[in-house]
Amino acid sequence: MYKEIDPYEYMNVIMEGIKKGVLLTTKKDGVVNTMTISWGQIGIEWNKLIFTTYVRTGRFTHEQLESGEFSINIPMDRKKAGKILGYAGTKSGHNTDKIEDLGLTLTEGKNISVPGIKECPLTLECRILYKQLQDSSAIPEEFIKTMYPQDVDSTYHSANKDFHTMFYGEIVSAYILE
Ligand SMILES: Cc1cc2nc3c(=O)[nH]c(=O)nc-3n(C[C@H](O)[C@H](O)[C@H](O)COP(=O)(O)O)c2cc1C
Repeated sequence: MYKEIDPYEYMNVIMEGIKKGVLLTTKKDGVVNTMTISWGQIGIEWNKLIFTTYVRTGRFTHEQLESGEFSINIPMDRKKAGKILGYAGTKSGHNTDKIEDLGLTLTEGKNISVPGIKECPLTLECRILYKQLQDSSAIPEEFIKTMYPQDVDSTYHSANKDFHTMFYGEIVSAYILE
């Protein structure tokens, strides 16, 4: 069951979720993938409510986002979600099917083709409005050193040499899976 929610009433839950880790799920050419994110925000531009996410260029998710859609899946029970977030944040869809490995329960998207995930029930369905590769020359030097070490290849799940593309997803539907 989909319990429709007003995202404005769940701002704290959403922002605290991001800080601790949430899932970013994509579907392209029939392939569903999910990865953990903990950078992002919810806000307004062009009078639209937008979820902004930052994805390094080498991630499998980066390719998947060419579909133009994603869903954000926020756990309501952190104990149960720990294993899911750990796995989705260290394994890549380049090498494995994380949905199958974790036995996740997918639910049909309401307004986009990307599914929700029952185990992480607070769902924001997003349609990409805008994307931009961040300008490395404009990033503070201290972050270049710590976040983008050029001697670590793109496959490393933590800091690595790839810069981030920011994706703006207009929130087209918000609900809790019950
Ligand atoms: C807690 C946590 C937060 C993360 N946040 C981000 C993020 O905001 N952006 C990003 O590009 N990678 C982030 N990662 C790394 C990706 O989740 C990880 O590299 C993942 O394996 C990528 O999967 P994919 O190749 O299937 O897209 C995070 C990992 C963890 C564990």
